[in-house]
Amino acid sequence: LDAAVFDKASFFTSVKRSSVHILLTDSNVAKVLLDKFEKLFADLRINFYLVVVDPGEKSKSIQTYTSVLERCADHGINRLSTVIGVGGGVVKDLAGFLASTYLRGINLVLIPTTPLAQVDAAIDWRHSLNLPEGKNLIGSILAPSEILVNATLFKTLNQRWVRDGLAESIKLALCQNPALLTTLKEVKLSSEEWIAQVIDVSVSKKIVAMDRNSSPDLAMLVYGHAIGHALEHLAEGGFGHGEAISIGMCVTAELSLLTGLSDQASLNAHYEVFQAFDLPTLVPIEYDIHHIWSAICTDKRFRDLKMYAPCVQTIGKLATDESGDAFLPFEEEVVLRALELNRSRIK
Ligand SMILES: NC(=O)c1ccc[n+]([C@@H]2O[C@H](COP(=O)([O-])OP(=O)(O)OC[C@H]3O[C@@H](n4cnc5c(N)ncnc54)[C@H](O)[C@@H]3O)[C@@H](O)[C@H]2O)c1
Ligand SMILES: [Zn+2]
Repeated sequence: LDAAVFDKASFFTSVKRSSVHILLTDSNVAKVLLDKFEKLFADLRINFYLVVVDPGEKSKSIQTYTSVLERCADHGINRLSTVIGVGGGVVKDLAGFLASTYLRGINLVLIPTTPLAQVDAAIDWRHSLNLPEGKNLIGSILAPSEILVNATLFKTLNQRWVRDGLAESIKLALCQNPALLTTLKEVKLSSEEWIAQVIDVSVSKKIVAMDRNSSPDLAMLVYGHAIGHALEHLAEGGFGHGEAISIGMCVTAELSLLTGLSDQASLNAHYEVFQAFDLPTLVPIEYDIHHIWSAICTDKRFRDLKMYAPCVQTIGKLATDESGDAFLPFEEEVVLRALELNRSRIK
């Protein structure tokens, strides 16, 4: 972690030096970054109480949340304290949910350490925990005061997770930014500068463009997620979030073509870009499509026996109904057909 990552004069300005704060991370991140943060916080005279959770999705549980809450209460975390979340999307969700609920809400600072968390999770104000019944079924909303986005933070991350995170950038490109799709095609995974550039473009475009009252802007964040989350849930850790939504976006593109919302070129562009990044595009053959549908039924927007999901009409643009709503309804039969069409590509 080079010192230049933090402009010491301006970062952590929301963190009050007179209080104790909570530094929340997972054990993988602690192994590679903790000593650097300890030194940095000592230099900045930031007192913190360290909480290290297990890595992985299972830490986004009520049990982990409760145990962290109790530790906050036992260690003098108060209204002037900040939750500083250092880690991937899992830590971000747990830190965000904690900060938004402890004492009815305290300050939140996020230091995302995976590309996925940098281009997507950390710049989203929604924070979620899982239930055994499904992903992200409990949630809250809180704007972080400060977010540090920097590609040097994931130097230690293996290439699988770098690719996994870029799936969220590809999502933004497909939904609203065809120029980013061109940038992505030129990315060499080994080149830090390119990845940094993709992250910059994704983040700045999104922060500038986000209108939380606009259906297409909100929809863009969850493109491919209704099906992707179902696959992620069924895979029980076998897929990364980005991997699962890559397949979800391909199946959704099949669905768009099938229902006349888009064309063959848009479908082809989906498969091509994910394949170029070695991201999965096909629903594993061993998954029963009826089980996938049952998992889709737990999606937050599912109602009246229909999946509500956004669809790309042409690259860079989401389809909307007459009222401008980008969440379009799909019945079981057509979703199962799209899953089958996707699987018919398995050689
Ligand atoms: N709106 C939102 O809040 C939002 C958006 C997208 C994803 N998410 C959530 O984010 C989670 C996925 O995030 P993720 O892909 O970052 O997963 P993750 O947090 O599980 O991190 C992936 C792995 O990398 C490790 N790791 C993280 N940073 C590292 C580093 N710098 N060096 C070495 N190892 C490191 C972690 O310990 C973990 O094992 C999911 O739970 C998803 O639901 C939330
Ligand atoms: Zn996502």
